[in-house]
Amino acid sequence: MQLKICGIKTIASAKTALHFKPDFIGLIFVPSSPRKVTIKTAQKIIALAKKNQTKTVAVFQDQLLDEVLKILKIIQVDYVQLHGNESPRYCTQIPCKTIKTIRLENTLAATKKNIAKYKNIPNFFLIDRPKQGQGKIVDLRQVKDLVLDYHIFLAGGLNPDNIQSILKKTDQNLKGLDVSSGVETKPGIKNMTKLKKFISKIKPSLPTTKHFGPYGGRYVPEMLIPALEQLKKAYYQAKKDPEFQKKLTELYQTYSGRPTPLTFAANLTKKLNGAKIYLKNEGLNHTGAHKINHCLGQVLLAQITGKKRIIAETGAGQHGLATATVAAKFGLKCTIYMGEIDIARQRPNVFYMERLGAEVVPVKTGAKTLKDAVNAAIKDWMTNSDTTHYVIGSALGPDPYPEMNRDFQSIIGQEVKKQIKKAEKKLPDILIACVGGGSNAIGLFHPFLKNQKVQMIGVEAGGAGRKPGQNAARFQGGKVGVVEGYKSYFLQTKDGQIAPTHSISAGLDYAGIGPELAYLHDTKRIAFTSATDQEVLAAFDLLAKTEGIFPALESAHAVAEAIKLAPKLAKNKIIVINISGRGDKDLFILAKAFQDKSFKDFLKNEIK
Ligand SMILES: Cc1ncc(COP(=O)(O)O)c(C=O)c1O
Repeated sequence: MQLKICGIKTIASAKTALHFKPDFIGLIFVPSSPRKVTIKTAQKIIALAKKNQTKTVAVFQDQLLDEVLKILKIIQVDYVQLHGNESPRYCTQIPCKTIKTIRLENTLAATKKNIAKYKNIPNFFLIDRPKQGQGKIVDLRQVKDLVLDYHIFLAGGLNPDNIQSILKKTDQNLKGLDVSSGVETKPGIKNMTKLKKFISKIKPSLPTTKHFGPYGGRYVPEMLIPALEQLKKAYYQAKKDPEFQKKLTELYQTYSGRPTPLTFAANLTKKLNGAKIYLKNEGLNHTGAHKINHCLGQVLLAQITGKKRIIAETGAGQHGLATATVAAKFGLKCTIYMGEIDIARQRPNVFYMERLGAEVVPVKTGAKTLKDAVNAAIKDWMTNSDTTHYVIGSALGPDPYPEMNRDFQSIIGQEVKKQIKKAEKKLPDILIACVGGGSNAIGLFHPFLKNQKVQMIGVEAGGAGRKPGQNAARFQGGKVGVVEGYKSYFLQTKDGQIAPTHSISAGLDYAGIGPELAYLHDTKRIAFTSATDQEVLAAFDLLAKTEGIFPALESAHAVAEAIKLAPKLAKNKIIVINISGRGDKDLFILAKAFQDKSFKDFLKNEIK
């Protein structure tokens, strides 16, 4: 939960507010406001805020766009808050991040309709009273509903005496609070005692769950909160701890074999006769895929939090294999939950997990695939969370997993950045990755998000066709929901149950998607597409024959997209494909798909 202290008009008030290290301070430039700040004072306050690493917000209300732009040329703020009836078009013409104030309508449907007009335009919404000065606080029943869908700050009559009951009623999904008159002695003059009281009231109840826009969060039974909080605390400390980082880097390098190579695919490039193609070969990691990156990070955290047992769920078996591997290395007991159907199609990985000493538990409920394995793992964790760490296998799940696994996987993008600069003296034009839960994709993309010229494409499983149940393309047929502890897009049936999915690759055959990717989809920073099973097999074949590399069937989805895209691009454009894993594990599926009769005969002979 973030805090914005608004309506600061003097240097003294700014100092009072900044003393509490708020996330934002608001400066009002509305001529009729009693809290209007002068440009000169605003410039001084902005300099103070910068030193304090507090973001600044300039607030305007129904002013001429030219007038606003003129002021923005003089003062450099981080955000502009549009507090009146500015149109969506008006908002898009503001040259920095924006916050749109939405005044509650009489009904929730009317408020939602109003918000929908601004979809994807402002960075977040600020909910305020229907009319200035009308009523005391806003209709909290509406707010409780809105926070599930939108990135929302709450304003309007907040003060030290009412804030606790407001937080109880709106639950933990508010993005932030905006306080102004409730902590003043007179308009624009903030009071130290009132602010102290306000902050002391919100701090204990401050849920600090991470959201990506409206997605993410933490929707779990009460009994899991202590384990998640313990993990989050340990992770945040580890993030800043050079000793932890040193240990992790050492493991990456001396155990997993990092850095993985970035290979120029000269033959494939020639064949496609377009953009230059590079392959980031995560398949050369120990255990054959990127999954080891977050397993090593998490096992170090399990050590810090004193957990002696680890559990995991797995689909393709790659995450289970990586988890069983690190458990063996660190001497931890290990249980892996895996759907019965996945066990059947990924038998080699099950064999290896068992040889590593892990217990592989077949999950026989539901569709007997990944989602059912996740449910079984959560059940285990609910009973054993004081002794057990749950190694979640992608950048998803309840907070802190999406952020934590993203950070562990970001080593992929960080290495690509260095490697491509060395090879090409510039950044790539396009990054492509397959998307199951999203860990290899966000790991490659995240370090490039601020490089606006770098385009990013996530490739989902197009499976056998576009009909429900034939694929796992969440952005084609998915709807927003809360499942398995987090909020994101999920493929759902009409009555909101998790829908069956299909993909030739077990690792992409999942109904949900990591929350950060959901947000980056909505904000259009990342484009998403899909590849069918047939395209994937053709891509596998082409990469094998041109580059001598077997991609995992998951990674072959990304190759399939590059095959479609590269010929349309100029030869000086650069594409990097994340080869998230190697294809050895898919031997049985591939032999069947390529109708390799001699392989079948070989199996028959082996059985004899
Ligand atoms: C090789 C490989 N790539 C990709 C994935 C998909 O997972 P994610 O989207 O989290 O990278 C998997 C999942 O098992 C995998 O094994």
